[in-house]
Amino acid sequence: MKSIEIRKKFFDFFIKKGHERVASSSLIPAEDPTLLFANAGMNQFKDVFLGKEKRSYTRAVSIQKCIRAGGKHNDLENVGFTERHLTFFEMMGNFSFGDYFKKEALQYAWEFLTIDLGLSQEKLYVTVFTDDQEAYDIWHNIIGLSTERIFRLGAADNFWQMGDIGPCGPCSEIYFDRGADHGCRTKECAPGCSCDRFLEIWNNVFMQFDRSKDQAGNYHDALLKQTGVDTGMGLERLSLVMQHKESVFEVDLFASIIHATEKLTGHDYSSATPEIKAAFRVIADHIRSSTFAITDGCIPSNEGRGYVVRKIIRRAALFAQKLSGDNFFPELVFTIAHAMGDIYPELVAQKDFVHTLITGEIEKFSHNLIHGQTILKKYFEEDNKNKIISGAQAFKLYDTYGFPVELTKIIAHDNGYTVDVINFEKEMERQRVQSGKKNIDTQATTITVSGEEHSEFTGYSELETATHITKILCNGVEVEEIPAGEKCWIITAQSPFYVECGGQISDQGWIIKSHDRMPVLNLKKMGNAIAVELQSTELLRVGDALTLLVDKELRQNAAKNHTATHLLQAALVNIFGKHIKQSGSLVAPDYLRFDFTHQETLSAEQIKNIEALVNKKIQENIRVQVTVSTYKNAVDRGVTAFFGEKYNPENVRVVEVPGFSAELCGGTHVTATGDIGCFKITEVTTLSAGNRRIVAVTGPQAVALFQESYATIKSLSQEFKVKPADVLEAIEKQQALLKSSQADNKQLKKELIKKNSAEWLQKTEIINNIPVCYVTIEPALASELREIAQQLAQKQSGVYCLVAHSQFLILISPQFTVINGKALIEWLKSQGLNCGGSATMIQGSGAITDSFKAMFMAWVKAQS
Ligand code: SER
Repeated sequence: MKSIEIRKKFFDFFIKKGHERVASSSLIPAEDPTLLFANAGMNQFKDVFLGKEKRSYTRAVSIQKCIRAGGKHNDLENVGFTERHLTFFEMMGNFSFGDYFKKEALQYAWEFLTIDLGLSQEKLYVTVFTDDQEAYDIWHNIIGLSTERIFRLGAADNFWQMGDIGPCGPCSEIYFDRGADHGCRTKECAPGCSCDRFLEIWNNVFMQFDRSKDQAGNYHDALLKQTGVDTGMGLERLSLVMQHKESVFEVDLFASIIHATEKLTGHDYSSATPEIKAAFRVIADHIRSSTFAITDGCIPSNEGRGYVVRKIIRRAALFAQKLSGDNFFPELVFTIAHAMGDIYPELVAQKDFVHTLITGEIEKFSHNLIHGQTILKKYFEEDNKNKIISGAQAFKLYDTYGFPVELTKIIAHDNGYTVDVINFEKEMERQRVQSGKKNIDTQATTITVSGEEHSEFTGYSELETATHITKILCNGVEVEEIPAGEKCWIITAQSPFYVECGGQISDQGWIIKSHDRMPVLNLKKMGNAIAVELQSTELLRVGDALTLLVDKELRQNAAKNHTATHLLQAALVNIFGKHIKQSGSLVAPDYLRFDFTHQETLSAEQIKNIEALVNKKIQENIRVQVTVSTYKNAVDRGVTAFFGEKYNPENVRVVEVPGFSAELCGGTHVTATGDIGCFKITEVTTLSAGNRRIVAVTGPQAVALFQESYATIKSLSQEFKVKPADVLEAIEKQQALLKSSQADNKQLKKELIKKNSAEWLQKTEIINNIPVCYVTIEPALASELREIAQQLAQKQSGVYCLVAHSQFLILISPQFTVINGKALIEWLKSQGLNCGGSATMIQGSGAITDSFKAMFMAWVKAQS
C-alpha cells in the first residue's frame, strides 16, 4: 500500500469517527521556548490539553511534520545505524480533548490497523504502563488480546511527556513483529527491545497530568482539568510494515531521494556495503530534515534550533564524503520539493532559497571538515592506549573547526575510540557561562496568577480607559492593598496598554487615580491578564477606580512603524519572491527592524526600489482593514503568518492593506497608509548567510532624518560652493586632490630625509665605544621619526635619539643593548616624559628642555 493511500485511509477513518482534520503546524513551535522543533502531533494542541485554549471541536486528526534531533526526543545519533530511526518524520495522530479516553482510543487504533489496513493480529503486540491496569484490561477483556501479547513496561517506555514540563501521561504502544530475522535473538527480545524486530508503530498517550518545575528544580505532576488522548504513528514506519520493506529508507517516501543519490554518486543502494548503505540513509534523512526545517524558517546558526540544523548538515557532509563528496547533497532539495510538493507546497516555493543556503553551509564547512579530520588523526596517534578523545580535544574541534560532537563521535567510533562527552559538556558549559548564553530549554519563564484573571484589551479603539483594580501583586504575592511608595503589579478589568507581542514593543503611559499620575514602569501579560508595574503614590486597594492612559505620541509612532513593517514585508516578497520570510521583527516608536530570509546582499538599486514601492503604497493612502477569521481560512486565502507566533486557530486577526499586504497580526496600526507619512531605510545588514536585517524609520523620524541630512548637504554645498546635487562630485574631487598632495608630500619628505642623512650622521659622538647620535629634527618630520632612525641605523649601528619638537624616538641597534631599553624608559619617565616601547625602540613625547641632550648623553655614558 502506497504512503499516499495510508494518509488517505487514516484521515478518512478518523473523520468518519467525528474528528476534525487539522493541518500540520510549522516545525518551528509557536512561542514555546521549551521546544526546539515540533516533535509530536500534540504540540500544536498543548494549550488545549492544558485547558488554556478552547477549540470548536473535541476530536482532531492530523499528520504532523516532526523533527527529533535535539532536546528531550533526539534520534540524531541513531540515524543511519538502525532500520527505523529518522530525525524528520511525519506523525499521524488522533486526539481527544476531554472527549473519549482509553477505551475508544485503543479500540480505534486496533480497528484501523486490523480492519482498515488489514494487518494480521498475529503480528501485533502491545505494551502498557506498569501500573495501568485499566489499559491492560481494555486490551485483554474488551479487545480480546491474549495475555502473551500484552507487556507491562516502565516509565522510560510507557510514560510520555513532550518536554521536561507540560502535559503528560501513561501510554500504551502497539508493536509490529517483523520476525526473528530482524531481532537480536536474545531470550529477552520482546516489545521494548532496542533491536529492529518489534517495531513500535503507534503510541497512545492518555493525557492526565501537567508537569511543572518548582524553583528548587523539582518536578511535580498536577492532574489536568480534563483527560485527553494523544496518539502518534510514524507514517514512515507504518509504510515499512505495509510495503514489507527492510527499513524505513526503502519505502516509497524515500524512493526518489535514494534514486537521485544513486544517480548523483554512481553507487547502487541495494547492493551497497553496510557502510555505504548507512551513508545513503543518513543523507536521505538529513536532506529531509534540513530542507523542511529551513523551509519553515529555521536558518542554520550557532545557537538553539539553528545549531541543530547546522549539525544535521555537517553530519550529512561527513557521510557524503563516503559516497562521492558533498557537492551532490544540496541537489537533493529539488528531489524532495518535487516528491512532496503536492502535500507541502511551501517546499516548492522555498526550494531555490533552501538549495542556496545548504550549498553555502556545505561550502563553508568543507575546508574545516578535512582539517578537523587531520587533527583527529593526530589525536588518535597521540593516544593509542586508552583510545579516548578528551573533552578538551572534542571541544577544540568544536570551537576551532566547527565539529559538532556528534561528528567527532562518529569518526572516533570508526577508529575504535570513544569521546569523553561529560568533559566536553563541561567545556561547553564553561564557554556558555563566559559568553552569558543560555540553553534554549532554560529560557522558559512562566508567570501565573491564581484564578481565571482576565483583562479586556481596549487599546485598539481607545487610548484612555476608566476601569478598576482586580488584583494586586507585591513581590510575587497577592495582596489586598498596597501602601503609598510601594512598587507592585496591578491587574485591571480593562486595559488600553499594548503589551509587547509580535515584535511591537509595549506602550508607555500613566495610571491616574484622583489627581495622581503614576507612570507605567513595566507591562506584562500574566495569562490572559494585563499587568502594570507602578510605584504607588497613595494607598491602592483591589476594587479602586483608575484611569489608564496610553502615551499617544509613542503609540501613534509605533503604529506607523508597524504598518510600515507590513508594507516592507509585502514589498520584499513583491520584489524578491515568495522565499522571503520574516525571521524577526521589532517595532518601536522611533524605528522598525525587520529580519528576513534572503540569500543575496541588497544592492543600492534594490534598496531604492523597496523604498519606492513602500512609499508608493503610503501615498496611495489605502485604508487599513482589520478583520477576524479562522486561521485556516486566512492562510488558505494567502494571508501571511509568522512561524514564531502563536495563533488561536479559530480566531485570528487579519490586518490588511487591500491589494498589497495581508498578515495575521495582533498589533496596533494606522487607519490608512498615508498616516505613515514616509518611509526610509537607514541600514541593511547581514545577520548570517541567508538572514538579512533592514532598519528603517517612518513619520516624524523620517522627516527629522531628512531635515538633518539636508542641512548637512546644504552646509557642504556652501562649503564647496557647488549645488547640493554636486556635493558628492566635489568631495570626490577633493579626495583625489588630497591623495595626490599626500603622495607629493611623502615624496618631498623622503628627499628631505635623504638630503639630511649625512649631516645627521655627522653628529654622532662615541661614548665608551658606542656611537650615540642625538639629532633635533624639523617638527614637520615628526611622523617619520621611526623611518629616519631605521635608515640611519642601517647605514651605521648605534644609539639614536631623534627629537622633533615635543616628540622623540630612541633606537638602540641590537649590538648595543648594553644600553638597557627598560631602564631607559624608567629614566625617561623620571624626567617627566611619556614613553613606551621595546628594548630596541622607544617612542615618547613631552616637554623636552634644552638641557635634555646633555642629560641623555650623561645617562648613556653612565650605563656603558
Ligand atoms: N505524543 C506521543 C508521541 O509522540 C503520541 O503522539 O509518541
